[in-house]
Amino acid sequence: MTSTLDTIAARFSSRSFTGDPVPVDILQAIVTAGLHAPSAMNRQPWRLIVISKKEEVDAIGAVGLERLKDADPAGYERILGRGGKLLYDAPAMIVVALAPQPGAFSADLDGGILTSHLLLAARDLGVDSCTVGLAGFAFADETLKTKYIPAGFEFGIAVLLGYATAPGTGHAIDESKVIWA
Ligand SMILES: Cc1cc2nc3c(=O)[nH]c(=O)nc-3n(C[C@H](O)[C@H](O)[C@H](O)COP(=O)(O)O)c2cc1C
Repeated sequence: MTSTLDTIAARFSSRSFTGDPVPVDILQAIVTAGLHAPSAMNRQPWRLIVISKKEEVDAIGAVGLERLKDADPAGYERILGRGGKLLYDAPAMIVVALAPQPGAFSADLDGGILTSHLLLAARDLGVDSCTVGLAGFAFADETLKTKYIPAGFEFGIAVLLGYATAPGTGHAIDESKVIWA
């Protein structure tokens, strides 16, 4: 186990995974870390759908890619250039579904914080990850939405989990984004 700051610095988005599955106890530990995330008024407006069979992740990715083709041809071409798999052959995926919240606070913000917990817990446990907003194209399909997303919830974001085929580094940080007032 590394320090939190080391874990944060070491996280990167993997877009190529080996076929090795992520053990269930590791998935459970990542999910538990997600559930520790803060949320506005502690509403926890989320459901985590853990998909741990690679064939299922692949099938979801195929549906999403087909929909992306029509909706966003440039995005589709980008995925083709990355090997043609929307979900990069990942063996596992956690879908973060969110219930729209009344009032001042957005469930999206809660979901983003939770997602960060998932990514960092994964890194800490030696599991590589990629956040995939484009997975939303798959869950726009009524059949998949009905199968995976509970009633009253919407797809928020998804996190791919697995073991990268090559080591990676995160993006270069940009200190110019900081304003010391
Ligand atoms: C909300 C969100 C959606 C993202 N969606 C995708 C996606 O659909 N496909 C993908 O390959 N990467 C996706 N990413 C990963 C970003 O491209 C990546 O985080 C960014 O390029 C910085 O690189 P790093 O994560 O390696 O530091 C997404 C990231 C975020 C935060």
